[in-house]
Amino acid sequence: MAKNNLAIVAVVLTVSSLCSLAYCADGEKTDIFVEGKVYCDPCRVQFPTRVSEPIDGATVGLECRSRENGTIMYSLEGKTDKNGIYSLPVDEDFAELICEVTTVSSPRDDCNDKFADFEKARVLITTKNGVASMARYANPLGFMKKEAIPECKEIIKELFPDEEDMPEEFKEIIEQ
Ligand SMILES: *[C@@H]1O[C@H](CO)[C@@H](O)[C@H](O)[C@H]1NC(C)=O
Repeated sequence: MAKNNLAIVAVVLTVSSLCSLAYCADGEKTDIFVEGKVYCDPCRVQFPTRVSEPIDGATVGLECRSRENGTIMYSLEGKTDKNGIYSLPVDEDFAELICEVTTVSSPRDDCNDKFADFEKARVLITTKNGVASMARYANPLGFMKKEAIPECKEIIKELFPDEEDMPEEFKEIIEQ
């Protein structure tokens, strides 16, 4: 009886220390990956609309910086598939780092303007926040067409029925 209990304790200890090796320590191996979408913004509004299209073959970069001194501790580039989805394997727990995905380049000559403030999608790369899935989703990122397509006037009016709420730069698109 006492022997059996000891065996159980030993198994529990082994399993929990495996967990801490595989998932619970910084820099240790995990299956974690960052996933997100890159779209073409034909309206130059810098957010997805119903005329946005996925961009196939867009390059994105993931950079993780130290919270303490800003040094880049990890960086990786990847490309989107035909659905505009990228998946960047990280395989490490970066709870202590600030990680961001940015757009690098678009293969589409008609849709390769970067967003004004170099849009970044911040993503927390850790297994310590209780999320069971190994995917960490970043907000969508995009590139703009050089000029808004005609349909955008209608879309912007739908989004801002009250013209007082409409940002100035969108009023310019409507007046074009
Ligand atoms: C910056 O901080 C990280 C820990 O977050 C450390 O590993 C690294 O050596 C530091 N780099 C510099 C240049 O101080």
